[in-house]
Amino acid sequence: MAEIATLDALSGLMARQRAVREFTKDVVDDGLIEQILEAATRAPSAKNEQVLRFVVLKSPESKRQVAAIVGEAPGPGRTPWDEVPVLIFVCAANPFGDTATGAAAQAGSVYPGIQNLLLAARAAGLGTVLTTSRAKIKEAELRALLNLPEGMDIYAIIPMGWPVARIGKNRRRPVSEVAFRERFGDAW
Ligand SMILES: Cc1cc2nc3c(=O)[nH]c(=O)nc-3n(C[C@H](O)[C@H](O)[C@H](O)COP(=O)(O)O)c2cc1C
Repeated sequence: MAEIATLDALSGLMARQRAVREFTKDVVDDGLIEQILEAATRAPSAKNEQVLRFVVLKSPESKRQVAAIVGEAPGPGRTPWDEVPVLIFVCAANPFGDTATGAAAQAGSVYPGIQNLLLAARAAGLGTVLTTSRAKIKEAELRALLNLPEGMDIYAIIPMGWPVARIGKNRRRPVSEVAFRERFGDAW
């Protein structure tokens, strides 16, 4: 019974996990950020390599430098990069190699941690938006700004702060559309 109650609570949280792009100017405490990062570290990784590293930017000067490099803010109705309370750079080295299986192990070791982070932030009442493309387009300049060691790549930039608006339920395909029984195409 306890497990069912927990699953319902977690499902409710997941249904209200959305991309938030507009934040108030309110500060996010370091203690809370650390709790959220701790949740991210709890994710699984291939061979338990725990590849994720996080560079957290709060200083106005650092964020201005990011804004100057990255340019356009993340999405419509967005808070500009330099006004977002916290920017989390998700970084990782790849110990698995460039083969197809290595790439799959690497991606599979990065995104569960990111999802943990997004959900933990949401549970704390914070908003986040996962962004990946700008980090890749501007990776060379961002690497230099963050002083990343060789082999350490940027996988995402996650703006995080207190949402301006109430966050409602996300819209997703129903299970009946995405899940099958025994063979692809056979109704669940
Ligand atoms: C891999 C990935 C990259 C994304 N990149 C961006 C981005 O660059 N800018 C942005 O505003 N949202 C970005 N998003 C957020 C998606 O647009 C958003 O999750 C999706 O539209 C669903 O919106 P919802 O979660 O609010 O329902 C990204 C999401 C993922 C999973």
